Amino acid sequence: MLNRKLDRSRLHELAQVWYCTFSKNEFLLPTFRSVLSADEVRRAGRFKFQKDRNSFIITRGVLRTLLGGYLELPPSEILLEYTTYGKPYLLDSTLKFNVSHSGDMAVFAFVLDTEVGVDIEQVKDDFDLMELARNFFSEHEIAAMENIPETDLTRAFYRCWTRKESFIKAEGSGLSFPLDKFAVSLDHDHEATLIQTGWDLQEKDNWSLYSFLPEQQYIGALAIRDKSKGIEFANLVDISTLS
Ligand code: COA
Ligand code: MG
Repeated sequence: MLNRKLDRSRLHELAQVWYCTFSKNEFLLPTFRSVLSADEVRRAGRFKFQKDRNSFIITRGVLRTLLGGYLELPPSEILLEYTTYGKPYLLDSTLKFNVSHSGDMAVFAFVLDTEVGVDIEQVKDDFDLMELARNFFSEHEIAAMENIPETDLTRAFYRCWTRKESFIKAEGSGLSFPLDKFAVSLDHDHEATLIQTGWDLQEKDNWSLYSFLPEQQYIGALAIRDKSKGIEFANLVDISTLS
């Protein structure tokens, strides 16, 4: 996790994941706002809280800048389309991407020729996580949670949540996807596995799942519909050098 920049030509072999914090980059808001589409500027204007507005502007601006690097286009000229479930994508391109943000962080995942989903969550412990687990997780995952030592329960919850969400984000149909019909591993920070896909017993064999810990108090996960692709990360400490 020490890279600050990735060699984009390696996307043929690997999935690439970039991440950044918002608070250290607020001085770049005008730069990022200037590359947004008219529609995105309108969307930014609809956020009630300035913090959410700024997070959206930085996330979209960085996304456009990264896409521009891959496609060799100015960031403002990238045309984003949306599926009926709201997932942004590029028309007629083999380049696939997905974005997630939580708290002070955003994460951006890119891959060629297959689907990718990413999720990041700021770890909090001010809620009844077993109640949430019973509402959202599969039977297999609830049973696994019940066997996790109390001291590791919060992290296990977030490992499971982010892995599940990265999978449904790769799949693309959002919350209409039945969360209880598939199961992920949750007992280890780094070993992530898609254990069960209830609608097709073989489907799980087509996927790779990864977890990553970009900063203290954050857990991320990535799902790729490919068994063989590796993954590399870059921490965009100083986004102003990004191009
Ligand atoms: N599929 C994949 N990606 C999508 C998407 C979809 N259907 N719709 C939007 N996105 C992308 C967008 O780039 C969006 O960024 P934007 O809002 O700046 O445009 C980004 O994903 C949002 O992802 P994230 O930051 O992780 O937000 P979220 O956790 O609030 O929402 C969704 C995730 C999009 C999948 C949404 O359907 C949702 O509301 N999920 C609720 C979370 C949940 O219940 N998870 C269950 C885990 S067990
Ligand atoms: Mg999320």
